[in-house]
Amino acid sequence: METDFWHRRWQRQEIGFHKDEVHLFLPRFFPRLCLPDGARVLVPLCGKSLDLLWLREQGYQVLGVELSQQAVEEFCQENRLQPAISKVDGFHCYQFEQLRIYCGDFFALSQQQTGPIAAVYDRGSLVALPSKMRRDYVRQLARLLNTGSQMLCISYDFDQQQRPGPPFSVPQAELSELFGDWCTLEKLHSESTLDKHQMLQAAGVQALQEEVYRLRVA
Ligand SMILES: C[S@@+](CC[C@H](N)C(=O)[O-])C[C@H]1O[C@@H](n2cnc3c(N)ncnc32)[C@H](O)[C@@H]1O
Repeated sequence: METDFWHRRWQRQEIGFHKDEVHLFLPRFFPRLCLPDGARVLVPLCGKSLDLLWLREQGYQVLGVELSQQAVEEFCQENRLQPAISKVDGFHCYQFEQLRIYCGDFFALSQQQTGPIAAVYDRGSLVALPSKMRRDYVRQLARLLNTGSQMLCISYDFDQQQRPGPPFSVPQAELSELFGDWCTLEKLHSESTLDKHQMLQAAGVQALQEEVYRLRVA
């Protein structure tokens, strides 16, 4: 999935992945990480997700990373935010109170830029990437995280033969393969949400489980 693919999706507003509300599983499961006030939460491939605002409202320092400048600008406009914008090591940095968005390539981000990360929130990120990029994404997370860092990951399990990605099906077996040798992995929830994914349903997907995992760097 090349960067042009995502720029085109934003230009054409083909953004069926974007939700006009906070993801239901975020308030339900994020508290299970038991993070202290002010903990830094990384949201890779964040789009213009309202989940960023929910996380900030809980008192976390939120760090989103998004390739598309259009997405970041729509996020600011739609939520009436007036960020301070600066340039930091090749990224455009949008800062408003405890929320910062780095606009640029997640794979180019360094630990020096992020600082210590208490947790990652992944919704629509791992599942947005094809197989080889998922491995690169996980390697990048391993570079950015430290022992004890946690992650809440919302993934999909469906028959990829019924519809090519993105989104991609990333079932528990693959998560274990990707994270198993450096993280503990616990499935918190699994729910059939096909009725909420009408585009997938229309494309022929007959069953879909949305699954929530908690990971901790060992
Ligand atoms: C499926 S969308 C999910 C967005 C968001 N997580 C949500 O829940 O709405 C994937 C997002 O990742 C962004 N993206 C893709 N590749 C990226 C990269 N290398 N670095 C940063 N963002 C990227 C895309 O522009 C797109 O907004």
